Amino acid sequence: MKEHQGSLFFVFLLCFFVEYIHAILARLCCFGQQCASQNLYFHLCKIYASPLYFNKTAIHLSNIGVTQLAALPSLVADRQDAGVPRQLRNFYIKRVSNQRTYKDKTMPYNVILVGTGGQGHAWCQRFLPPNIQDGLLNVVAAVDVNPAAFKNAQEYLGLPLEKCYTDTARAFAENPADFCVIVTPPAYHEAVVDIALAHAMHILSEKPIADTLEGAVRIAEKVKRAGKKMGVTMSHRFDQDKTTLRQELRSPRNGALDYLICRFTCNMRNFGDWGAHFRHTMKDALMIEGSVHHLDILADLAGARCDTLYAQTWNPPWGEYGGDSQGLVTMQFANGVRAFYEGAKTNAIGLNGWAQEYVRAECENATLIMDRRRVERHAYAGGRIYKREGEGAEIAPLEQAKWMNTWLVEQFVQWLDGGPPMETNIEDNLQSVALIFAAIQSSHTGQPVRVQELLETTRRQVQAAL
Ligand SMILES: NC(=O)c1ccc[n+]([C@@H]2O[C@H](COP(=O)([O-])OP(=O)(O)OC[C@H]3O[C@@H](n4cnc5c(N)ncnc54)[C@H](O)[C@@H]3O)[C@@H](O)[C@H]2O)c1
Repeated sequence: MKEHQGSLFFVFLLCFFVEYIHAILARLCCFGQQCASQNLYFHLCKIYASPLYFNKTAIHLSNIGVTQLAALPSLVADRQDAGVPRQLRNFYIKRVSNQRTYKDKTMPYNVILVGTGGQGHAWCQRFLPPNIQDGLLNVVAAVDVNPAAFKNAQEYLGLPLEKCYTDTARAFAENPADFCVIVTPPAYHEAVVDIALAHAMHILSEKPIADTLEGAVRIAEKVKRAGKKMGVTMSHRFDQDKTTLRQELRSPRNGALDYLICRFTCNMRNFGDWGAHFRHTMKDALMIEGSVHHLDILADLAGARCDTLYAQTWNPPWGEYGGDSQGLVTMQFANGVRAFYEGAKTNAIGLNGWAQEYVRAECENATLIMDRRRVERHAYAGGRIYKREGEGAEIAPLEQAKWMNTWLVEQFVQWLDGGPPMETNIEDNLQSVALIFAAIQSSHTGQPVRVQELLETTRRQVQAAL
């Protein structure tokens, strides 16, 4: 026993020392706060906010008179450094409090995911986890009318079965949340929006806003009247290749933009080739489920709202679709830029399918081409020079941590945090829905459609009916 006494005494001294240092740090934090030295306070909290010590920090601070524990994370959150305050806040939530006792702009938002099959699988597996890891959100419940789709929420989001619901109203009633993510087919978006707004929630929804222009305008109107925020995940506009092209296009070295060409052609003619069955049975699948992305991208690249649009859409006999699966669209924008779009789901071969689209931007001083993710530039070098595509100077792809919906989730959270509205806020995104329904109308009437007039007329009708 005697031979252990020395080591026991040493361990005791060590514990005493650690505890002493801990108390000093806590007092320094307190001092930093009291003397309003936010910098000192922030840095001390940064050092101090380790998983091991957070509980103790909270207890120490309350023991020595900092009773407004809720103020701790929000004081720290006021600093610009994003990473550490979120960690500090997360530990606060997990270890000190079982509930949200305060709201500040760096708290993870509680989210309900509606629709966990199909594209919902990608939300569970790819789009939400990086944002959960960044401390931006927690998924508190998931909904799907098909219980077989719960496995995605369970496997990738770690949700227990009792937090997976087949009844949307019940899920929202039993799980307080800040916003919901809607990943159901477009015809079912509005019903979820109604439930979300009844629970005072913000909304992030898959495109298109709805399956009719009236429905989309009605949703936007309801969201505005409720004073809530709604964003739409126009994934492809925020993909790496399109973002790279857009940045190059905006460079002054290319001069003015004259016109744009977009090609999206797939070999998906057989029933089920395009995933969910509703896409093969609905009317106007190409426009509503596909071209909504491409016309949106063209309008974004053009840098102005579409003024006039003319379209022809059809379904060839070999296309196993309930409506039109092919389309050609000509557009003119308010700034004079013109665009032409070729969209096809039933071709013999897919030249430019999903995430592999072709866009050519003809500018005053250069021709820019994006083709199957490669972006190249052909500079104007005098007359009578002909080149093949692929012979231009490659533009290096932009690099960043998040693309597509993963990035859009972050943008939505920044908007909720008080930042500027995300580009695809519902009001602005009505433009993309107006484009596809203008194309559908043009194809039916054989006449060009004035897109802004169509949108404003629909808005007046919807407002009168609400
Ligand atoms: N890249 C993209 O941007 C992209 C790709 C695919 C789908 N989407 C969009 O995602 C949405 C869903 O399309 P999808 O392909 O996943 O459809 P899907 O039919 O494959 O899956 C929809 C899921 O929602 C569930 N569901 C249907 N109605 C529901 C309801 N009322 N309440 C709860 N759950 C319900 C279904 O059981 C299914 O699990 C659509 O708006 C679509 O346009 C976007």
